[in-house]
Amino acid sequence: MVLLAQISDLHLDGSERATQRAVRTMEYLRGLATPVDALLVTGDIADHAEVAEYEEAARLLKAPFPVLMCPGNHDARGPYREVLLGEAADEAPVNRVHRVGDIAVLMCDSTIPGRDDGELDERTREWIAATLTELGGTPALVAFHHPMVNMHHPFVDSLRLRNGEELAALLSGFENVVAILTGHTHTAAASSFAGLPLRMSPSVTYALRLPWEGDEITNWEQPPGVAFHVVDENRELITHFRSVA
Ligand SMILES: [Fe+2]
Ligand SMILES: [Fe+2]
Repeated sequence: MVLLAQISDLHLDGSERATQRAVRTMEYLRGLATPVDALLVTGDIADHAEVAEYEEAARLLKAPFPVLMCPGNHDARGPYREVLLGEAADEAPVNRVHRVGDIAVLMCDSTIPGRDDGELDERTREWIAATLTELGGTPALVAFHHPMVNMHHPFVDSLRLRNGEELAALLSGFENVVAILTGHTHTAAASSFAGLPLRMSPSVTYALRLPWEGDEITNWEQPPGVAFHVVDENRELITHFRSVA
């Protein structure tokens, strides 16, 4: 059994309210009775992709368990690489595979530099295919920022992953993918895609107000949220969504 936590969309901007929500969330995760095997952070870590925002993220996300990350549309590959990965600034997609217990987690880059919608570009799709091939029968979770399904929210739907069909075609060639995990929605949600479970993490910063809740998009009254994903010996995924008090 593998126990993962997923958080998303910290949007660290130097403001007290963004910082405090991230601090509360990380205190909750560090204080769990049983530590998670890894924490996934699915993008929009910084709000303006500034070096100072990534420096704060690096401080806040320190934990006694592995922290696996991917960028979102508010991130920029150059400073993300320099500060969070300790690498030279480079504009290539940030794709990483991590082993966590008996499974693998692919943290993929669905960003399009300068845009807010998303795409798994050709380099990333080729990397996903090569990585899944190399993994053989190892169960794998595929995580990135932008979901591809219709959320029934006009704003979020205008900024979704635009090449879901290409992802579905790619994944149809593999039997070892357990689920797809994304962020970007600022609301906990569950769906399916290409015959796989699809989970969308709640946000650490403001939540999304749903169309039937009112017109204002941002909702600061909702608490930060965490998703816990359990992958068992039968490759079944159970997700628990939690609010952080
Ligand atoms: Fe976001
Ligand atoms: Fe986003």
